Amino acid sequence: MKYDQQLRDTANAMVAAGKGLLAADESAATAEKRLTAVGLESTEEVRREYRQLLLTVPGVGQYLSGVILFDETIRQKDDDGTPFADVLKAEGIIPGIKVDAGAKDLALHEGEKVTEGLDGLRERFAEYAKLGAGFAKWRAVITIQGGELPSEACIHANAHAMARYAALAQEAGIVPIVEPEVLLDGDHSIERCYEVTSTTLDALFAELKNQGVMLEGAILKASMVLSGKDAPDRADVQTVAEQTVKCLKEHVPAELAGVVFLSGGQTELEATAHLDAMNKIGGTPWPLTFSYSRAIQNPVLKLWAEKKTDDAVKAYLKRCQANSLASQGKWSEDFED
Ligand code: 13P
Repeated sequence: MKYDQQLRDTANAMVAAGKGLLAADESAATAEKRLTAVGLESTEEVRREYRQLLLTVPGVGQYLSGVILFDETIRQKDDDGTPFADVLKAEGIIPGIKVDAGAKDLALHEGEKVTEGLDGLRERFAEYAKLGAGFAKWRAVITIQGGELPSEACIHANAHAMARYAALAQEAGIVPIVEPEVLLDGDHSIERCYEVTSTTLDALFAELKNQGVMLEGAILKASMVLSGKDAPDRADVQTVAEQTVKCLKEHVPAELAGVVFLSGGQTELEATAHLDAMNKIGGTPWPLTFSYSRAIQNPVLKLWAEKKTDDAVKAYLKRCQANSLASQGKWSEDFED
C-alpha cells in the first residue's frame, strides 16, 4: 500500500501511551443543540470562539494525541490568523476530520439509520490531506429495540459503507477511524448489548477485510458494552469493563492499531471510570483509550457559556488528565476531589 508506513505511524501516534482523542467534530446541527442548551446562539463565530478555547490551551498536548474536527473548523483560524490545524500541530496534536454526511433513515427499515457520505469522498480526502488532516472519522449508529432491531440490513449496509470509506481514507494516506456506535438508548440488558456489539463488529471487520483495509493503519471507535439507559438494573462499572474487554477480544482482530471509545451519553465520571477499569483489567492486544466529546466538553461548555473562561480551561485540562490516567489504568476517584 502506497502510504503503508505513514498510516501505521499515524495510527500508533493516535494511541500513544497516556494519550487519547478529543472529539470536537459536532455537525452544525449538533453544535446548535449543544450551544442553545447553554443559552448561546450558534453562529459560525461563536462556534469558532468556543472551539478556539479547546484547540489552543497550552499543555493539552500532553493528554491529547489528536482532535477530530468538523469541516467548518478545519477551515477556520485562531485570533492570530493561524489555521487551527497548524495550531494543533504546533502542540504535537494530530488534526482529524469527520467526513461522513450523517445518519439518514434506512429505506424500508423504520427506526434504523444508514450513514451517508461516500459520493465525492476521494476528492474530499485529497483536499483534507492538503488541509493537514492525518486521520478521519465515520460514525454509524445501530439502534437496539427488543429482539427486532437492529436488522441484518442495517448492520450490513453500515459496515459496507464504513469499509468503503476506510479504503478511500487509506488510499489518501489518512488513517480511518471506524465508529459503529451501538446506541445507549432503550431498556435493553447488557447481555443484549453484548450480542449486538458482537454481531456489528463481526460484520464490520469482515467488510474491512473484503475491501483490503490495512488494520495496522486503522482505529476502531467503539461503544462500550452497557445496559440500556432506561434498563431497570444497570450493570456496574466492573461488569461493563469486563464485558467490553471480553467482547472486543473476541471480535476485534489483534492487528488493529488501537481502540478508542465514545462516551455516548455517559456522565463524565462514568466514562472515565469505565475506561480506567478496562485498563486495570488490561491484556488486550491494542491500546484502549478515549475519544470523547460530551464526557470532556459538557462541563467546559457550561463554564465557557457563563463567561468563566479560566474555570472552563481548568475543567477541560482536568477531564483530559483524568482520561489520560484512565487510559493507563491509573485513575481513582480521589483524583476528582
Ligand atoms: P460522545 O463522546 O459525546 O459520544 O461523542 C463521540 C463522538 O465522536 C460521536 O461520534
